[in-house]
Amino acid sequence: MSGPSRDAVMAALEAVEDPELRRSIVALNMVRDVAVDGGAVTVDVALTVDGCPLKDVIHERVSAAVRAVPGVEDVTVLLGAMSDEERHRLRHGLAGSERTSPFAQGSRTKVIGVASGKGGVGKSSITANLALALAADGHAVGVLDADVYGYSIPRMFGVHRPTVMMDDLILPVEAHGVRLMSMGFLAQDDSPVIWRGPMLHKALTSFVSDVFWDDPDYLLIDLPPGTGDVSLTISQLIPSAHLVIVTTPQITAQKVARRAAAMAARVGMPVVGVVENMSHFVAPDTGVRYEVFSGGGGELLAAELGVPLLARVPLEADVARAGDDGLPVVAARPGSPAATELVRAARAVVAAVGVPAPA
Ligand SMILES: Nc1ncnc2c1ncn2[C@@H]1O[C@H](COP(=O)(O)OP(=O)(O)OP(=O)(O)O)[C@@H](O)[C@H]1O
Ligand SMILES: [Mg+2]
Repeated sequence: MSGPSRDAVMAALEAVEDPELRRSIVALNMVRDVAVDGGAVTVDVALTVDGCPLKDVIHERVSAAVRAVPGVEDVTVLLGAMSDEERHRLRHGLAGSERTSPFAQGSRTKVIGVASGKGGVGKSSITANLALALAADGHAVGVLDADVYGYSIPRMFGVHRPTVMMDDLILPVEAHGVRLMSMGFLAQDDSPVIWRGPMLHKALTSFVSDVFWDDPDYLLIDLPPGTGDVSLTISQLIPSAHLVIVTTPQITAQKVARRAAAMAARVGMPVVGVVENMSHFVAPDTGVRYEVFSGGGGELLAAELGVPLLARVPLEADVARAGDDGLPVVAARPGSPAATELVRAARAVVAAVGVPAPA
């Protein structure tokens, strides 16, 4: 029986994407050679970096694609690495070399910072779930973890591997279909990151400008608690950013959140809405609803700011559990009361900030 043509194999390889660059490996010049000997095919692939953490994924994708070509009986995938010069050329083909914010004027990406005046109200959980809900609706999504000292995005997405560098370009870590950047991918261990103000500014600038975000539809920014320097830096790098404010029902938390709104006004970021988190508790066995915290803080704050209350997310053990397990609740327990509210919140955000023009 005759083997496949080289063209047929190449056509199959066209459809294989590099998991981090989201481009065809053929277009990226990663396919060095294709040899066809009867039904046996050998593909020589040059990885963008030596020891690429996703080499197994690439290996798997290439073998599966080639195996599906009629006439192929056996596939061998050889993995090598690009030379410095090849990588350099590729890096410059992907992004310009001057370090400017890709989200400055003229960017198609809608940027939404998730803020609150107080710690521990659920900013990171809301950010992670909004990201997954947007991705599930077919949008391209990035998450920038601006909580440089107290990062939690790697844990919530269940990824801890270091980022891959392409020359001076940092490739975001992709998990559950979302592009992520966090200090947690760069820090050596779990020891706290102690940085002074100027270094914080530098780190955030790098997270915005040196990362190959590749113009997602939405970029969510998990802001640290408080109203300090980070928001100011973000507003300078991304003047078009919007804010979602997270609060809990208690009136005291609402007062703190009001400070976040004052901060928004100071840095000129429009608030698109309020998410009330830990709103109530629905007993899973009886379905009885308990108002654990009194106050109606979300509604009060939204009314005060003249913005919509986007959602009221219940207190649910699954929200915390899914966060610890690395799969946010909208994916881990779709249809649960919390997941339903979070999807509603994501769609309300889209309605408020709009859908970007096609790429
Ligand atoms: N709706 C919810 N139901 C149950 N647990 C929740 C809910 N929202 C958040 N949590 C839990 O509360 C804790 C704090 O949440 P999270 O880390 O998202 O808050 P944060 O505002 O980002 O905190 P920080 O200010 O420290 O960054 C986490 O353990 C999280 O799993
Ligand atoms: Mg957080």
